[in-house]
Amino acid sequence: MASTQPPQSQPSFPQTAALNVPDLIGRKRDGETHSVAELGALIGGYVRGEVPDYQVAAWLMAVYFRGMTPQETGDLTLSMAHTGDMLDLSSLPHTVDKHSTGGVGDKTSLVLTPMLSALGLTVAKMSGRGLAHTGGTIDKLESIPGWKSELSDEAFLKQAREVGLALVGQSKNLAPADGLLYALRDVTATVDCLPLIASSIMSKKLASGAQTIVLDVKVGAGAFMKTVADGEELARAMVEIGRHAGRNVRAVLTDMQAPLGRLAGNSLEVKEALATLRGQGPQDLHELCIELAVEALTAAGFPDNARARAEATLHDGSALSKFRAFVEAQGGDGRYVDDPGLLDVAPGRADVTAQAGGFLSAIDALSVGRAVLALGGGRERKGEAIDHGVGVELLVKPGEAVMAGQPLLRVYHRQERGLARALELLSAGVSVGSVAPEAAPLILGRIG
Ligand code: URA
Repeated sequence: MASTQPPQSQPSFPQTAALNVPDLIGRKRDGETHSVAELGALIGGYVRGEVPDYQVAAWLMAVYFRGMTPQETGDLTLSMAHTGDMLDLSSLPHTVDKHSTGGVGDKTSLVLTPMLSALGLTVAKMSGRGLAHTGGTIDKLESIPGWKSELSDEAFLKQAREVGLALVGQSKNLAPADGLLYALRDVTATVDCLPLIASSIMSKKLASGAQTIVLDVKVGAGAFMKTVADGEELARAMVEIGRHAGRNVRAVLTDMQAPLGRLAGNSLEVKEALATLRGQGPQDLHELCIELAVEALTAAGFPDNARARAEATLHDGSALSKFRAFVEAQGGDGRYVDDPGLLDVAPGRADVTAQAGGFLSAIDALSVGRAVLALGGGRERKGEAIDHGVGVELLVKPGEAVMAGQPLLRVYHRQERGLARALELLSAGVSVGSVAPEAAPLILGRIG
């Protein structure tokens, strides 16, 4: 999927300056700021192979310690975005994109994107595959027989125009600077650096072309950001990058202590998404989709009655029928949407039970994500095959009363592959206490 069109909002990019890399590294080391032209030259030079890894590694470490101003972070992000294709969606009405910083059981995109399309917005979106303990939208959709994640540029834009929803795998030439920088950050202890995280995420979003972008910043055990303060800082940085680039960006901070909904694993998550599209989803997933839809409508300039209109799409069948049309447009078999019972779910079952009675105090999202991975439902390395049918069901959610011996979690496995490890992870990740825990709010903040 690629379209090499001129950028929509920053026609002057990429800007470049004559480059003296040691001088640039030294100035960042000393806490000075870079111009847009310097950043454009450094990033462009790196992607073309003219600036070696060791110089960029030193520069990344200087950024790690000295940080970047909002202006620099915005300029860095645009420089990164412009190293590859800039998707031109300007011929489509009210384009909207959504990004989640990654969670467990997070099937929100499967529900939200048809909702937004049913509300009159256009979703022409690139999504990723799962890596490590977090799932990916493309893997989930591939649980539906026939569904294809690849479309030509023309077919992608045509489908977005005609159906209002097209979703494809990420183009290889989407912000290639990010792939290179991320790999270098990974081996130089510079991943955990706010301007670098924010620019990494937003470079891909800006290159993907939507005018409105809603960000779901996850906070908690199963998320990249462990505290609300860190989540807020990241959200603010990303909203500011969007403003810098002339896009409408809003962020919602949401809890990711426990998995979202009750099901984790690819086919299982499609089932839960379909139930939610029928107005019968778990309360947390339903609420999050409404919240993100309201933010998207408001950011796109349609705030009137946003909540009621978003709710209506899950009760009048309009979001479900959008989803069906989208699945069929990309080669999927619509009968699986009509009858989710047809989806392949692994036949093996094993339960984790309560050792004692009381209240379920926690189900650690990370443990559930790792259990799905152990069962074969995720990948450790890019390109590995996965088993779409395995997963974990939360039979009880945090705060609910439980009796000794009661099943808390159900594992769906195939011929016991990874079962022992999954049960070990889940048993360690679940805790029962004698008092009911305080109800954790799902929405922890809004920025934008
Ligand atoms: N996700 C990204 O895409 N980049 C980061 O740096 C962190 C999370």
